Amino acid sequence: CERQDFRASKQRLLVVANRLPVSAVRRGDDSWHLEISVGGLVSALLGVKEFETRWIGWAGVNVPDETGQKTLIKALAEKRCIPVFLDEETVHQYYNGYCNNILWPLFHYLGLPQEDRLATTRSFQSQFDAYKKANQLFADVVNEHYVEGDVVWCHDYHLMFLPKCLKDSNPNMKVGWFLHTPFPSSEIHRTLPSRTVLLRTVLAADLVGFHTYDYARHFVSACTRILGLEGTPEGVEDQGKLTRVAAFPIGIDSDRFIRALELPQVQDHMKELKERFAGRKVMLGVDRLDMIKGLPQKILAFEKFLEENPQWRDKVVLLQIAVPTRTDVAEYQRLTSQVHEIVGRINGRFGTLTAVPIHHLDRSLDFHSLCALYAVTDVALVTSLRDGMNLVSYEFVACQASKKGVLILSEFAGAAQSLGAGAILVNPWNVTEVASAIGYALNMPADEREKRHHHNFLHVTTHTSQEWAATFVSELNDTIVEAQLRTRQ
Ligand code: G6P
Repeated sequence: CERQDFRASKQRLLVVANRLPVSAVRRGDDSWHLEISVGGLVSALLGVKEFETRWIGWAGVNVPDETGQKTLIKALAEKRCIPVFLDEETVHQYYNGYCNNILWPLFHYLGLPQEDRLATTRSFQSQFDAYKKANQLFADVVNEHYVEGDVVWCHDYHLMFLPKCLKDSNPNMKVGWFLHTPFPSSEIHRTLPSRTVLLRTVLAADLVGFHTYDYARHFVSACTRILGLEGTPEGVEDQGKLTRVAAFPIGIDSDRFIRALELPQVQDHMKELKERFAGRKVMLGVDRLDMIKGLPQKILAFEKFLEENPQWRDKVVLLQIAVPTRTDVAEYQRLTSQVHEIVGRINGRFGTLTAVPIHHLDRSLDFHSLCALYAVTDVALVTSLRDGMNLVSYEFVACQASKKGVLILSEFAGAAQSLGAGAILVNPWNVTEVASAIGYALNMPADEREKRHHHNFLHVTTHTSQEWAATFVSELNDTIVEAQLRTRQ
């Protein structure tokens, strides 16, 4: 009955991502506490008004019993979310294993993990099998809820098998797939043991999207070189079937940030921060604690800056917010210890009885605290080794209308292609270069800061997440599925 109501009103958009925008915590009485996270994708889709959006994804919890599953389905339905249930072993092999130990590092040019290189076709194979199984479970839930005429938008490297699973069961389903990470050069993709099948499964989609033109180009050349298919200006062609491939750079809901700065609690927080760091320039890093974010390199560059510029030692502070992520993956655990060790050493070296040069926090901040922090920052350091887009750089710019602080940005982040003219672009692997960019940023005259900020602010406020989602979905809607092709012939 719910489905018929929707058919009568708006077209439905089924958004399928590994994670739902809601995290669920079970209470003792079998009810659920749901916490919504307004990430980039959620705010993007709030702006797509002509569709009725439904979310399909993993709720991030293990729910082995039927009672729990039923109550969770009910609770999530109120948030327009539909859960996919994954057992612990599947999460381990699919999410910790294939997604985050293999695809994620590879797509960010960090190569395949050592263990898999040496021994273990077996562990590689079992992780890949779990990946396929998990993708099929997502497909089953989509099929259960799909109504003819719906548009299905699959997201990210977790779900590269999904377009094929969906088209196998219904060739007329309109399916889009969007990658939020870089797609690497075809020479990197070639090293992946499942390189062929993962290109074919993605090509089953009607529209394939990337953040930058380079990623789209890499994907098309992987298809031509590895699969021997034909690349056209429109996409990739296989036996008369065209998969459209294009770049759709994401943005943020800039108004949400700009409006937040007017709120009394944000203003109060800004005042506190200004008082706390009076007399010192504030440098800021906000990253998930992930090896792609280049945290050790960034902190070492800051150390080099302090080493070479003793006059700045008590006049600058680096606030590094490092949000823990994928904590069951060994590589992430090693990184956490490494970062702590470096921060401890530098604070020991340059700290005084009353102040330390680095404030490092292993946690996330609520939205309002984050906005206040962005607004009081003098220099933001976004120095990812690789990054699909990196929206922290956009959020910082959106909150800098009065301060006009400087953005130091990695040339290997997708955002470098849009904010490059306003930011100071750096090679994050070059610690000396980043250290001198820090000096340049701290000493930058006001008119240059103003000019650079103006360029970026204009971009961030005109290329919003809403526009991104609307463009992708409307292009997907305009693609032609098999049934339409047959009628045309
Ligand atoms: C990246 C990925 C997203 C993912 C996010 C958080 O941005 O592209 O798909 O949701 O990281 O990672 P997590 O593993 O916690 O979902």
